[in-house]
Amino acid sequence: MDKILITGGNGFIATNFITLMLKSGYNVVSIDNLTLSTYLNFKHSTIDSKNFKFIKFDIIDNKIGDLIREYKFDYVINFAAESHVDKSIRSSNMFVDTNIRGTNNLISNCMNLLEEGVLPESFRFIQISTDEVYGSLKNNEPSFSELTNLNPTNPYSASKASADLMCLSYFKTHNFPVLITRCSNNYGPYQYPEKLIPLTINQLIAHKKVPVYGNGKQIRDWIFVEDHCNGIKKVLEHGCVGEIYNFGGNSELSNLDVIGTICQLINPGENLSAHIEHIQDRPGHDTRYSIDSSKSINELEWKPTHNFESAIKDTVSWYVANKKWSSRIIKSDHYTQWMENHY
Ligand code: NAD
Ligand code: TYD
Repeated sequence: MDKILITGGNGFIATNFITLMLKSGYNVVSIDNLTLSTYLNFKHSTIDSKNFKFIKFDIIDNKIGDLIREYKFDYVINFAAESHVDKSIRSSNMFVDTNIRGTNNLISNCMNLLEEGVLPESFRFIQISTDEVYGSLKNNEPSFSELTNLNPTNPYSASKASADLMCLSYFKTHNFPVLITRCSNNYGPYQYPEKLIPLTINQLIAHKKVPVYGNGKQIRDWIFVEDHCNGIKKVLEHGCVGEIYNFGGNSELSNLDVIGTICQLINPGENLSAHIEHIQDRPGHDTRYSIDSSKSINELEWKPTHNFESAIKDTVSWYVANKKWSSRIIKSDHYTQWMENHY
């Protein structure tokens, strides 16, 4: 079966994706520099399967070429990223290092190995990007399609857009076999608790208030992580090189709607205003993301199969049942310092 290198394998989406690919019989090598993940999904570095291997590795390290040469991968899927917008606003260096330099290091090494004939001719590189590269929409503007101009507004999205442009430039200049996915906001098991949905669940379980940036009317299109993972698998198996594929969840909701739904699941019948605190807005906060997935639906026969109402219930139940997983992170210095400094 095909061999896949997954970068950032201990992260939220990659963790869910690895489970899917191992179930489907693929051979997976996962690398991660474990910046967050010492606390996050370390368990996933020790998956007991003859089809899985974890190696601690940084995508910025130029020795990545030796690792790819050794395994002669059929696919490299680049999930590794600094992924938190708020952190990118405080300091952008790591975002440039991992998201831009790291991606460039991967594609340039893969291209050299393809030219040397070390990697198979059928080799594919999949760049996991985001809808945030398209920027922010007004409420009356049409959803982002793959042809929408890039217009990133914060250092995270600018670094992801830069990486996309590097990938596309390698396709155009060198015929490098790259495919790009751009997905909307994911939710589900194993998400780092700094992000809105796990943060909300954990704050409410601990009887603490949920911090809402500004008026809370900002809109995101929420997708259950399994739907995103199924889309990436479709891209790997049926996508065309040089193409971009959008994935969205058909669930455009305001932050207050999302927090309100979770609040009703944890504190049924209670008034939302007692459980939230409006705080200063995020600088340059994007007001709306909305994604048109029709290309993926038509060309990959993909569609999101989870609706928000039931998948958010399952997600809340998962975090309640896995309090131990969250509490290791919540008690870590990394997390407590972030919460103290940021809020
Ligand atoms: P995450 O922060 O949970 O995971 C990222 C992983 O990358 C972490 O395990 C981290 O340790 C690792 N990493 C960071 N720098 C590294 C480096 N230099 N070398 C090796 N590993 C490194 O992020 P996520 O939410 O799972 O996102 C995964 C990818 O999907 C990212 O590229 C992100 O831009 C993209 N994406 C995320 C969402 C979302 O809603 N979470 C939506 C669309 C796209
Ligand atoms: P986030 O999960 O950080 O994803 P992104 O900014 O990449 O979309 O945030 C989702 C939305 O929730 C975004 O509009 C910012 C908002 N938000 C809050 O209101 N309070 C918070 O404490 C956080 C982390 C996010």
